[in-house]
Amino acid sequence: MSLAKCFNVDDFRKLAKKRLPAPIFHYIDGGADDEVTLRRNTEAFNACDLVPNVLRDVSKIDMSTTVLGQKIDMPLFLSPTAMHRLYHHEGEKATSRAAEKFGTFFSMSTIATTSIEEIGNYTGGPKLFQLYIHKDKGLTDALVDRCKRAGFKAMCLTVDTIVAGNRERDHRTGFTTPPKLTLESLLSFALHPRWSLNYFTHERFKLPNLPHTEKGGKSIATSVIDYINTQYDPAMNWKDAEYVIKKWNGPFALKGIVSVEDAKKAIDVGATAIMVSNHGGRQLDASMSPFDVLADIVDAVGDKADVILDGGVRRGTHVIKALALGAKACSFGKGYLYALGAGGQQGVEAILKIMHDEIKRGMTLMGCRNVKEITRDKVIFRKK
Ligand code: LAC
Repeated sequence: MSLAKCFNVDDFRKLAKKRLPAPIFHYIDGGADDEVTLRRNTEAFNACDLVPNVLRDVSKIDMSTTVLGQKIDMPLFLSPTAMHRLYHHEGEKATSRAAEKFGTFFSMSTIATTSIEEIGNYTGGPKLFQLYIHKDKGLTDALVDRCKRAGFKAMCLTVDTIVAGNRERDHRTGFTTPPKLTLESLLSFALHPRWSLNYFTHERFKLPNLPHTEKGGKSIATSVIDYINTQYDPAMNWKDAEYVIKKWNGPFALKGIVSVEDAKKAIDVGATAIMVSNHGGRQLDASMSPFDVLADIVDAVGDKADVILDGGVRRGTHVIKALALGAKACSFGKGYLYALGAGGQQGVEAILKIMHDEIKRGMTLMGCRNVKEITRDKVIFRKK
């Protein structure tokens, strides 16, 4: 199997599974508990069908949308995800450059393996920074200031990760970052020589936005679950959100909302966007899927904030369905991480091209010339 033979997200997933050591693949691929929500995130799109209109002169399709204060060329962008260096030695440089080529947002995680400043200098494309609130409050202020200086134009605060979800795959594989050298992990590296060669012969793994994760010039090996549970502030509340939104003073999304009540509160504290998300099914299993709650959230706050659907997107038609319900854009995480693991920047570009073409083809077949024409009457929910 090769990149050229990858025609959809699932193909990239299969290739990533071959190329990445098992603990790393399962960290991307997994969800919490029984992974019910992880599966539901994608299945939910099948609750409705598209209603195409024909004979509408679709010779020109404009896929652009305006979200988080910026016009982007396609209504799908990269969700923030952690530690790209683990999946490919070019890390966030690979993903940010690919997003720039497609004129869409690259989102940088607080736990990225490239620094805010490096990415600021490296890509002129639309950039969103994802913030976690740590117990160390000074860190929040420092991250916000650094992002401002580095030219990030939008920010999101993740609100669904107060403690880590129960990711049993990570417990089973003993996943740590950077990978610990145990007998098991060495075996896994030996079985994935291409990944291992690249991982060990390039710049070392580090989390440059979090200086406290370094000791004596080395990144301290920890499990992501332990990191979240010891570093993030479980006392985080609406006042903290309000504080950081004010401090940022620009386009700001709360990421990880699936309740109408919370969406309304987000507006009250000054959010300009809501990322309807359950963290890719990695946090509270059995929680609502973004697509299932999207219409209610749009009806409640869609005239006051950009509503973004994050989670479960695997096809261009999923994006079209979300836009029909009123989302301004969608974002996806696993979809491009598989591609990063499968083939670095080239892989991410390939999946973005596939998604771009799928959305465009879908809009053409729907008779929708621009995103405004993707209205709610373009989907019909199946009767139960
Ligand atoms: C995760 C966190 C780190 O989902 O965002 O693994």
